[in-house]
Amino acid sequence: MARKIVFTSGKGGVGKTTLAANLGMCLSAMGERVVLADTDFGLNNIDVVCGVENLIHYDIVDAIEGRCRAKQALVRHPQYPNLYVLASNHTDPDKYISPQAVRLILDSIAHAFDYILIDCPAGIEGGFHRAVASAEEAIVVTTPHLSSLRDADKVISVLKSYRLKSVELAVNMARGDMIVDGETLSPREISDILKTPLIGVIPQDDGVFLGERSGAAQKAFRIFAGNIAKGTRKIYNTAHKYSGFFGSIRRNLKKSL
Ligand SMILES: Nc1ncnc2c1ncn2[C@@H]1O[C@H](COP(=O)(O)OP(=O)(O)OP(=O)(O)O)[C@@H](O)[C@H]1O
Ligand SMILES: [Mg+2]
Repeated sequence: MARKIVFTSGKGGVGKTTLAANLGMCLSAMGERVVLADTDFGLNNIDVVCGVENLIHYDIVDAIEGRCRAKQALVRHPQYPNLYVLASNHTDPDKYISPQAVRLILDSIAHAFDYILIDCPAGIEGGFHRAVASAEEAIVVTTPHLSSLRDADKVISVLKSYRLKSVELAVNMARGDMIVDGETLSPREISDILKTPLIGVIPQDDGVFLGERSGAAQKAFRIFAGNIAKGTRKIYNTAHKYSGFFGSIRRNLKKSL
């Protein structure tokens, strides 16, 4: 039976969709059968991020309203045969969809998969509830920026009212150079402040895009996926290459860019 994990944040644009999609790819490359479910009905884009937007015939609302079976709304990724995308509502983003309806669809496909990764919209309104109500585990995504931390704190306290097995923290867009210079909080400090255990750290890196992940982003996502699948808690060290003599040169170079 699939583990249902929601990626949520409060603040928008912190990397929920990027993390869910990249981790879906990593987990499927490890042999796990994964569904990426888009519950961001307003600004749906997981199909675009995964490059399968032209393959979508049916979406989750078609399945809810009986125009297709849930399985027919799953789009298999051409490069990752274990990865399926369940696109959100394309035709009428304003249509009201109940949390129970989404949950029923996800439950109906859970037996055939190992993971259902649920991409949640920003905010803590209706869309948030719809996404979280279908999940058993939550990963709260934050960046080291103050506004993101404040919203993550809010989300973590709201998540306490749900019956979730676990709530863990992912720090995205971590900057190793700034951590070493004491200009930003480290992921461990963020985890302490938010009183939430750390499950993954992804560096700020233009190479996070699917299919063209840089070495650093790829390594960080692989470690993160391993933590999810194996229960380990290894953390990618973003500060490593900025420590020591050569590290200080790298830091100065990065600042002068
Ligand atoms: N680690 C990273 N390094 C650099 N850019 C990143 C990183 N993670 C995400 N991005 C970029 O940040 C932008 C926002 O990411 P994304 O869409 O995943 O955020 P989101 O939380 O899903 O946003 P929304 O709340 O609007 O759904 C995208 O352009 C993405 O490519
Ligand atoms: Mg998103």
